[in-house]
Amino acid sequence: MKVKDILEKACHENILSKDEIKLLLMAEDKDKELLFETADRVRKEYVGDEVFLRGLIEFSSYCKNDCFYCGLRKSNRHAQRYRMQEDEIVEVAKRAYQMGYRTVVLQSGEDMYYTKDMLCSIIRKIKSSVDVAITLSIGERSYDEYKAFKDAGADRFLMRFETSNEKLYRKYHPGMSFENRIECLKWIKNLGYELGTGFLIGLPGQSIDDLAQDILFVKELDADMIGIGPFIPHPQTPLKDAEEGSVDLTLKSIAILRLLIPDSNIPATTALGTLDPLGRQKGLMCGANIVMPNVNDLEYKLKYELYPGKICINEDATKCRGCIESIIISLGRKVGHGKGQSRHYKRAA
Ligand code: SAM
Ligand code: SF4
Ligand code: FES
Repeated sequence: MKVKDILEKACHENILSKDEIKLLLMAEDKDKELLFETADRVRKEYVGDEVFLRGLIEFSSYCKNDCFYCGLRKSNRHAQRYRMQEDEIVEVAKRAYQMGYRTVVLQSGEDMYYTKDMLCSIIRKIKSSVDVAITLSIGERSYDEYKAFKDAGADRFLMRFETSNEKLYRKYHPGMSFENRIECLKWIKNLGYELGTGFLIGLPGQSIDDLAQDILFVKELDADMIGIGPFIPHPQTPLKDAEEGSVDLTLKSIAILRLLIPDSNIPATTALGTLDPLGRQKGLMCGANIVMPNVNDLEYKLKYELYPGKICINEDATKCRGCIESIIISLGRKVGHGKGQSRHYKRAA
């Protein structure tokens, strides 16, 4: 089958076989251009020209897990740890609102210092102070906790499955269980959150076949938001000598998922912008419609080191917002107004 025919099928049926996805992941030259052009057209048709900005608040760099790739892993004794207190988190959320953000993403390592009651109180305080959507990205919790956060006012939840190859998952996530992660994702969906999930590109040992499976798995989970980023080796982790993930495969995965879930929200990730100075622009041109700038103070930004060389790390949050707005406009796009709920979620509701 030719790439042109595969793209036509993807646009009409929103589903592809694993082999068809693999062909798209390996597309080069004219075929690759056609994939990116098609994804850009579908993005415009389904979610328009608006790029929605999410204010990212990384509120704790403590983590009980030991993911092989992440600088926040508990075994990294050089990691700089911090915890923001309740009022501070609420203040940053208010500041994000004043800067124009209508969604805040509360992200952290898996840090059980923040109990169910504390997180519910933070969510309630933010919701009663400013009119924003709240996305949580805090990892695995119990069903009761997810339910309590939703009842307190959380709207969305982001948690990548990282890789759908269970053998690789086990290897890189000691003490964690793939089954449990998937169960959490299903609870989150059933509780009525907008569900965000995705995977890492370029974990050592990951094949094209695995990536095609990852793409199909995002489709199977029926994600409303899709986060895909290249793996970037961190010098204080077991994967320090591994090769970084491919920007090209990240862009192709974004493009393919835009075709398979055309009305989803897809960010051009910070990791993509870190590996390629034009990475976020390229992502926005092949299917992405979201950017998540950090709104924290410099002091915390520097300490939340998942991987080295993160972009925007020395920029203050207001400057960063101005910078990303001009990038969006330079691409002929518009900065989104409002909360930018996933249309995929809206359609299903
Ligand atoms: N702890 C929560 C979790 O794991 O879901 C949320 C925060 S975690 C830092 C957010 C994401 O960072 C992970 O899903 C992972 O894909 C990504 N990440 C961690 N280390 C990375 C690295 N070295 N390169 C690229 N992305 C990385
Ligand atoms: Fe912790 Fe998330 Fe990093 Fe894993 S990816 S070590 S769960 S912060
Ligand atoms: Fe952060 Fe340019 S987007 S400095």
